[in-house]
Amino acid sequence: YSGIPINIETSPLVSQLSIYDVVHTLGVAADLSHIETGAQVTGYIGPEQLGAALKGCELVLVPAGVPRKPGMSRDDLFYTSDTIVATLADACARNCPEAMLCIITNPVNSTVPIASEILKKHGVYNPKRVFGVTTLDIVRANTFMAELTGLDPAQVNVPVVGGHVGKTIVPLVSQCTPKVEFSADTLATLMGRIQEAGTEVVKAKSGAGSATLCVAYAEARFGVVECAIVSSEEGECKFFSTPLLLSRHRVERNPGLGKLSAFEQKLVAEALGGLKASIKKGEDFVTNMS
Ligand code: LMR
Repeated sequence: YSGIPINIETSPLVSQLSIYDVVHTLGVAADLSHIETGAQVTGYIGPEQLGAALKGCELVLVPAGVPRKPGMSRDDLFYTSDTIVATLADACARNCPEAMLCIITNPVNSTVPIASEILKKHGVYNPKRVFGVTTLDIVRANTFMAELTGLDPAQVNVPVVGGHVGKTIVPLVSQCTPKVEFSADTLATLMGRIQEAGTEVVKAKSGAGSATLCVAYAEARFGVVECAIVSSEEGECKFFSTPLLLSRHRVERNPGLGKLSAFEQKLVAEALGGLKASIKKGEDFVTNMS
């Protein structure tokens, strides 16, 4: 995800950028620090520097983990991502408990509950400050919608709710701006492409990883009104992505799903089972941690 720090470093809103990983960060930080912006860049490497990397951070982006290979689902990454996310959330709780924590690490449907449970253990959990970043799904939905309709992609906005795996990804085409109309067949094809877009990239890369460039773009776009997985009560699901109004420090307002078509109500109902199972898997992992 090397594009993510480039986009952040070049944002005028950033004054300090800490790059942390278990390898290579010193070179990446030196390289980034030559970009002509005011942001101070520091590289941190290895577990003993994790605390220093996080001290005083206001926003923490977690893209850590491994990419899937063709034939794998995002859920197959769970047993690598679980400990990584738990370790990073633990360090955030100790060093920057007030920070907004944005999780990109897959499977996001489970890693957001993992991070939330760890923060709860430390008594610093604020449901308005923990996000599963799904902007990638919105970016893809906007692009595919523009391709299909001939609209300017910059003018298209398709909210995508639910989660970030297969059928838990629910594009709300009825809430698209500008308004669009499709036959049931075209709509089903469009939905399927949005839900499987990550797999499209995994297949195209033939074992060399998953999406990185569009992810970097999406994380940089993460804006004032954005869909993200947050603590929620939609469909009695503990975590659910809906459009949110964000401020610098938290979710200011979660207006919920809004009006859905009958087709979308069915998709949301279908998404809940998978989503609840992924949430439980994440929570159980933290409960059973020694
Ligand atoms: C994506 O949607 O591209 C990412 O979640 C990565 C993946 O494995 O699909």
